[in-house]
Amino acid sequence: MGSLSTYFTSSVGRKQIVAVTGLLLILFVIGHLAGNLLIFLGPEAFNNYAKKLAGLRPGLYLVEVGLCFVFVVHFFVTGVLVYENYLARNTQYGVNAAKGQRSWATRLMPYTGTLLLVFVVYHLLDFTFIDKHGHRSILADGNSYGLYGVVVNAFADPGHSTFYIAAMMALGLHLSHGVESFIQTFGFNHPRYTPMIKTFSHIFALVISFAYSSIPVYILLNYPKVP
Ligand code: HEM
Repeated sequence: MGSLSTYFTSSVGRKQIVAVTGLLLILFVIGHLAGNLLIFLGPEAFNNYAKKLAGLRPGLYLVEVGLCFVFVVHFFVTGVLVYENYLARNTQYGVNAAKGQRSWATRLMPYTGTLLLVFVVYHLLDFTFIDKHGHRSILADGNSYGLYGVVVNAFADPGHSTFYIAAMMALGLHLSHGVESFIQTFGFNHPRYTPMIKTFSHIFALVISFAYSSIPVYILLNYPKVP
């Protein structure tokens, strides 16, 4: 009989855990992007959105703890799979055959994933656990613009923006293999569909990573850095 522990102990079960947690993270990434793009509508729209989200507390705390759990499970269960695959590839017959078929995005998955984990921790310290009405929210005219001001001040700094854009490129690479892999884990694994699934994953990854990157690029081009 199947149980939760069977999922963790079988390789197929672990793949499904990675795929389901991956899907939840993809849904978060899409929702978060939609909210962040409100920055193009100005401080009022963006801060109102942040206020509405904050108004969902204390329920939102539950979602955040769930999201954190999903992140951690995705990271560690994937780690186990990567290690298993590494061992399998290093058997006498597996070495070269497997290596030749793996794309760059696939080979870089552990690195882009780890970079994203580091990014998320940095990002939370950057935008979540800060004083949203303190000195970092003040723009060139001397007024506080709340969370909008915090984001603008962060991205007006070219070094800060470059780090974010690099992380968004890592996100794109990670998604370009992750989405394809998730779709295949759930059964669409017929050779006839493979090229279609690959194209979809690549386009999806490009759109997400360019849309996120458009925010620091826009701010960098439109707001001078306040010394
Ligand atoms: C240009 C890109 C991004 C911008 C401008 C941005 C902006 C923000 C802001 C302003 C917050 C704080 C919200 C608040 O406390 O009210 C936040 C929280 C967060 N962001 Fe981002 N973000 C970006 C990219 C990302 C990416 C790519 C990820 C994930 C891979 C991510 C994950 C998170 C998480 C997990 C939180 C905490 C959510 C919560 O507290 O409810 N962000 N982001």
